[in-house]
Amino acid sequence: MNKAIIKIPEPSFGSKLTTIILDLEKIRTRFLMGEIPPYIFFQLKEIFQMLETLGSARIEGNNTTLYEYVEKVIESGSNIKIDEKQQELHNLEKAIEFIEKNTNSDTKIDRAYISELHKIVTKNLTPTPKGEGSKFPGELRKHNVKIAKSNHTPPDISVLQEHFDNFIEFINKNHPEQYQLLMVAIAHHRFAYIHPFDNGNGRVGRLLNYALLIKLGFKVQNGRIINPSAVFYSNRDQYYEKLAKADSLKDSDILEWSEYFLLGLKNEIEKIDSLLKKDFVRNKILLPAIDFALERENITEKEYNILKYLIKKDEMAIKAEELEKFGIQTSLQKSRVVRRLRDKNILQPTKPGGRIYTIRFANSYLLRGVIHFLEKEGFVSDFLNKN
Ligand SMILES: Nc1ncnc2c1ncn2[C@@H]1O[C@H](COP(=O)(O)OP(=O)(O)OP(=O)(O)O)[C@@H](O)[C@H]1O
Ligand SMILES: [Mg+2]
Repeated sequence: MNKAIIKIPEPSFGSKLTTIILDLEKIRTRFLMGEIPPYIFFQLKEIFQMLETLGSARIEGNNTTLYEYVEKVIESGSNIKIDEKQQELHNLEKAIEFIEKNTNSDTKIDRAYISELHKIVTKNLTPTPKGEGSKFPGELRKHNVKIAKSNHTPPDISVLQEHFDNFIEFINKNHPEQYQLLMVAIAHHRFAYIHPFDNGNGRVGRLLNYALLIKLGFKVQNGRIINPSAVFYSNRDQYYEKLAKADSLKDSDILEWSEYFLLGLKNEIEKIDSLLKKDFVRNKILLPAIDFALERENITEKEYNILKYLIKKDEMAIKAEELEKFGIQTSLQKSRVVRRLRDKNILQPTKPGGRIYTIRFANSYLLRGVIHFLEKEGFVSDFLNKN
């Protein structure tokens, strides 16, 4: 058999895998933001992208913990010099931005696209084997490689181009709808199997999941948060074992891999969807987070009261005039208070330049409490904090 050819095996209709695919199909195009105001939704999304980024980097051996990462995000305004570990995280954030900007249902995820992702991911990093960068950013490897902790030998360079071309064709082909999610699952394994680059294959492969899911209509730009790698980083050994088993390219092993990947994806999506309810965000995350900030004296009593009032409002936003409720009378005083809250980065306009304000928590010290309560509610894998 020509190993460069990629086929989608037929799952049996009564299998668990088919049920998982049917469930995912139900959520594929559903619009979700629902009742949460967009300015709250997008901050939650920023936070989940942090989790995705950190998870992907940690699989790779980056030992930054979530707590450290949170502190860096809070400090990030202040031009600190960044080291390799942070550069790696920064690159992954940029790669997610690139994907969101450049991907829709018509996008061809071709060689140029993947090449760009690889360049972004390895930017300013020391090339392998010393660091997490690449000797050939954006280019296929020019030598044979082994994958650490694996018995699989990726394709020889003499056939690498053929494997890669087939891969590009496979992910851009018009697969009938019911095979499209299987395509994404198979593509993730196949990309790792081919190992087209000298380094960064895992990171680019995980980003490709995100890109392909957007292409297939999972509406992440407006209304949904997906965290496709969470299933991998919640148990890295299992991830590697499942990949290794699929290296046989046997239909049954490829289907087993697909079931693992798609079940993980489904569980992750369902979990995040449950978060996107206003009462949940208000009562389980934001109100506790400001209590947390007050206890640690990150905010004053007065700031606390204003934020609490804001969070409890239906639209989770206020106008400066409403500060009257807190004994702030003149418009000069009101704008001074607003300015101070904005300087502290805990208040932001709901729209750029607007005069209605909402709570800012995605990169202020309120983030500490928000992460704490997301963790308490089961949205943060232990893996992100292990040393
Ligand atoms: N048996 C295997 N078969 C195929 N792919 C594998 C296997 N074991 C691990 N991998 C993949 O190879 C990746 C490592 O490759 P590489 O070092 O090029 O990527 P990276 O991005 O630098 O590191 P990492 O993927 O660990 O973040 C793993 O993350 C995983 O995705
Ligand atoms: Mg590596």
